[in-house]
Amino acid sequence: MDLDTLLQEATDAVAAAPDLESLAVVERGFLGKKGSLTAQKKLLGSLEPDARKAAGQALNDAMATVAQTATERRTTLAASAEAEQLAGERLDLTETMDELQRGRAHLVTQARDRLEDVFVGMGFTVAEGPEVESAWYNFEALNIPEWHPARGSFDTIFVELGEPEQVMLRSHTSPVQIRTMENQKPPIYIVAPGRTFRTDTADATHLPAFNQIEGLVVDRNISLGDLAGTIESFVHAFFGGEVETRLRPSYFPFTEPSAEFDISTPDGGWLELGGCGVVNPNVLANCGIDPEEWQGFAFGFGIDRLAVMRYQLDDIRELVNNDVRFLRQF
Ligand code: PHE
Repeated sequence: MDLDTLLQEATDAVAAAPDLESLAVVERGFLGKKGSLTAQKKLLGSLEPDARKAAGQALNDAMATVAQTATERRTTLAASAEAEQLAGERLDLTETMDELQRGRAHLVTQARDRLEDVFVGMGFTVAEGPEVESAWYNFEALNIPEWHPARGSFDTIFVELGEPEQVMLRSHTSPVQIRTMENQKPPIYIVAPGRTFRTDTADATHLPAFNQIEGLVVDRNISLGDLAGTIESFVHAFFGGEVETRLRPSYFPFTEPSAEFDISTPDGGWLELGGCGVVNPNVLANCGIDPEEWQGFAFGFGIDRLAVMRYQLDDIRELVNNDVRFLRQF
């Protein structure tokens, strides 16, 4: 085959190579050790010296041309391969505008909103208090004096301010009871949702910063029956009518008698939800309310735990991981 035809064939094949791999095959086919252009070198030996020189020159030029075209083709192919990859990985931000992605309330916020709705429907109003508290509100007014062993059970996070252990992140929402009773005359029907803090290490069932909701009723002729009825009504409204409640005797310095309250599970078991009781007369007196005239009941429980139970989450930490793929499900 004459050199011009071979050169033409080679440049055509290079131009037609669809990707880098086929280009390498084409290149080897013409320029490799056993390539068809390389093979032409062997034929040079049979020529006269003058003719050999001219033919050798022509062959070298042809091989250089093919090598050059192959290099250009390689550059083109590499660029389009990259462009293709970029196109594949492209994040089209305009796309999300087609369907506006609205934010939504966090699972815990939804639970808190629903709880507020349920209690407002039962005649309660919503009260708030500060997250940083003094020992008076977090403990003393709640009938937990400095020497009281119950202080230890609250795993309190103290703030370095003033006297040691006098300022703290509130370890429960019960201080809002005190603030409300100091500022409001009975009858009182409030719920106080909010963030609370303890030195717990985060694990599947604990968070060091969590949410509670507190309930406080102060009125005339209030009994333990009113407390049990209120808890039952709220549990039915929140979980549905098939869920039962029970009270188990317990101890809190600020209520007397005190109880833990549980809700029934589908498999016939019970889950502890929170604490409750009849407001201790000392607590009423600490807030300037006459315990002879007024009685009260109070309850408190974790909102995050409630969300874990209602949505059957495996791990309470899911609530603070902020993984939108998880949060979008609710
Ligand atoms: N404050 C208690 C706690 O955090 C719960 C509670 C509230 C108990 C009101 C009784 C009455 O453990």
